[in-house]
Amino acid sequence: MASAKVELISGVSATASWMAATRANESRRSDAIFQDPLAALLAGDQGRKIVRSMPRRAMVHWGVVARTSAIDRLILDVLDSGVDTVVNLGAGLDTRPYRMPLPASLRWIEFDFPDVVAEKNQLLAEHRPMCRLERVGVDLSDRDARTRALSECATRSTNVLALTEGVISYFTNAEVKHLADDLLAISSIRAWIQDFDNAGRRPLPVGWEKKLKAAPFQFQVDDWFDFFRAAGWRPLKSVTTLEESERIGRPYPLDFPYGLLIRVLPKDMIRKILSLSGIVVLERRQA
Ligand SMILES: C[S@@+](CC[C@H](N)C(=O)[O-])C[C@H]1O[C@@H](n2cnc3c(N)ncnc32)[C@H](O)[C@@H]1O
Repeated sequence: MASAKVELISGVSATASWMAATRANESRRSDAIFQDPLAALLAGDQGRKIVRSMPRRAMVHWGVVARTSAIDRLILDVLDSGVDTVVNLGAGLDTRPYRMPLPASLRWIEFDFPDVVAEKNQLLAEHRPMCRLERVGVDLSDRDARTRALSECATRSTNVLALTEGVISYFTNAEVKHLADDLLAISSIRAWIQDFDNAGRRPLPVGWEKKLKAAPFQFQVDDWFDFFRAAGWRPLKSVTTLEESERIGRPYPLDFPYGLLIRVLPKDMIRKILSLSGIVVLERRQA
């Protein structure tokens, strides 16, 4: 009997190695926008295979590079406002505490599933972060467990920056609303950096639904900013993917047919499309 083909992405935690492998590929380029020397080690074979297997990989690479670059810069900006702690929710195999110029006194706390945290701890045991790094293994969709873990971390801090990078899409609308409420309820969390995709409800790229069957994109809203505004978080600053890609000199790639279309469609239309996604720093709405 023929056995069913198992997809490489067997659950949402596998998407962490997809992102790490993408950062490893960027780091190998002669014109790399950032260096992530530990990404290849963390991504492993699984990450490399996922990158190769995903349709529209040039577009993913381009988007992840712009996102990483913008978030790096925005984190440094927000740290200047006196942040003493960063909580990175769904940190996956991110290595910012090792590769960014962070103050040694900064607390950086990563949250992800216990197995992701255990594997990361083991792989990075010999490496020294720039700041005070902790990791918490928790299922972030377990609201009670998440609130306990977050409160425990945030009560020891006075000015906390929350970060969710490539994470929100995997949660349902109700889970995202609860997360927004729970972060708002912790008064020391002053800002929240996240990537946004404000293209509204639309189908995934062809082939993605099957590949992401075990890690579906679930968060779907008509207006990303309205959703978070209604939940008490308003945009303080945002950087669109278009702006970041122009800043770093990385135009949309020449993948067929989208890269060609993007070069022949009216400029205004393209600029509008590429401005629908990006990175936003949210701050709590003033009372
Ligand atoms: C696309 S990866 C992004 C990882 C990292 N932020 C980055 O940009 O490289 C999504 C991450 O969210 C984590 N995640 C998703 N749902 C989660 C949950 N319910 N509990 C804990 N972690 C979760 C996954 O394990 C994975 O590491």
